[in-house]
Amino acid sequence: MEILDGRQRSQELTELYTQAVEKLKKVSVTPKLVVITVGEDPASFVYVRQKKRRAEAVGMDFEWVTLGDETSQEELEATIDKFNDDSKTSGIIVQFPLPNHLSESRAMDRIAIEKDVDGFHYYNAGLLVAGKAEFKPCTPKGILNLLEAHDIDVAGMDAVVIGRSQIVGMPIAIDLIHHNATVTVCHSRTKDLKFHTQRADLIVVAIGNAHMLDASYIKEGTILIDVGINRLDDGKLVGDVDYEDVKDKVKAITPVPGGVGPMTVAMLMEQTILAAIRQHGLDSREFLG
Ligand code: GUN
Repeated sequence: MEILDGRQRSQELTELYTQAVEKLKKVSVTPKLVVITVGEDPASFVYVRQKKRRAEAVGMDFEWVTLGDETSQEELEATIDKFNDDSKTSGIIVQFPLPNHLSESRAMDRIAIEKDVDGFHYYNAGLLVAGKAEFKPCTPKGILNLLEAHDIDVAGMDAVVIGRSQIVGMPIAIDLIHHNATVTVCHSRTKDLKFHTQRADLIVVAIGNAHMLDASYIKEGTILIDVGINRLDDGKLVGDVDYEDVKDKVKAITPVPGGVGPMTVAMLMEQTILAAIRQHGLDSREFLG
């Protein structure tokens, strides 16, 4: 059984990104990431702190804009516009979820296309479908990077994606198709989930349901990518997969924590560096290899 260690892979990437930022600073370019949060969702604050730590570790500028719970759509969009127009800002993300009175899709679509380092803007989502994405959603991009780092080629595999969110399920399904996997997307209305998962060579689960996927759902030798991050009553963080139950049956698995999460943050750093490179008309091969 192989553990797909996202923490270790993201550490290797951090070294590459640190060098890229050093080189960029020599030509007077400092990538800057702006993260906007609205309200005080505790999980979001944990994620944003991780993004801040990693941005500082690679040497880029980072600004965290915290807007109050009562912020209106117009105020949120005015804040996005301010950073769209700011030449020092390379990338902008609005951390989700937003409070219920705000539209996430309008927020996604307000970010300038060239600063959309989360890859959620409809234009960038369209490019992903066309196989020409410049910015991809960071979680799918991180999953494929981790698989490639472990020499796992998904071409020809039967892949099952559980979950169809715009952030993970939909884009990973599309990206897996571009990488020549045969993809089935399952969701809350799927009639017989086990029918699909039991024949899958690769399963990506992103539903936010602690320990839901146990050994009875999988065949011997499958590869399991666990995107879930769930906090149990005792404070412990666990994935959507029952790790102890499946670990002797899988070929490879991502742990939680330390699997997909650190890869998502790493890809955000990469896309912010790429955004800065493109905005200054530079060649990414010179900085990122
Ligand atoms: N909420 C959970 N994951 C993400 C992410 O990758 N980006 C943003 N903006 N919000 C999220």
